Amino acid sequence: MERTLSIIKPDAVSKNLTGTINSRFEQAGLRIVAQKRLQLSIKQAEEFYEVHKERTFYDSLCEFMSSGPIIAQVLCGEDAVAKNREIMGVTNPANAEIGTIRRDFGESIERNAVHGSDSSATAKIEVDFFFNRLEIIE
Ligand code: CMP
Repeated sequence: MERTLSIIKPDAVSKNLTGTINSRFEQAGLRIVAQKRLQLSIKQAEEFYEVHKERTFYDSLCEFMSSGPIIAQVLCGEDAVAKNREIMGVTNPANAEIGTIRRDFGESIERNAVHGSDSSATAKIEVDFFFNRLEIIE
């Protein structure tokens, strides 16, 4: 069993898509073993996305990610990182396969509905950013 960090981004939360997106995870066999709704400060968003700090989109991304409530969650299952990336689709909704979350609900490469960890090592860091061990019940 593997864990991955998922974020339902402000665009999708504001459209009331939390349950719809969660059902995609559950239908694919991933379990939501921790979940919370919160709003990041700009500083927290900057820290979370620090790996992208040299990229041109960094400031805009951090502003967007702190613009409204998000749902942070831990998904658990066999090959959870890869499975979640498959369910999400590629970063740019315009290039994502039909039936993926980003294709169906994303508006743009920035407002792309969800974030998911890109590896098991990143997942550990990202899960620890949002959750302590008492909050994750497998
Ligand atoms: P996410 O999986 O949250 O990881 C970094 C985010 O940066 C990405 O999804 C996109 O929403 C956002 N982003 C904005 N512009 C770009 C870009 N040109 N290339 C990649 N990611 C981008």
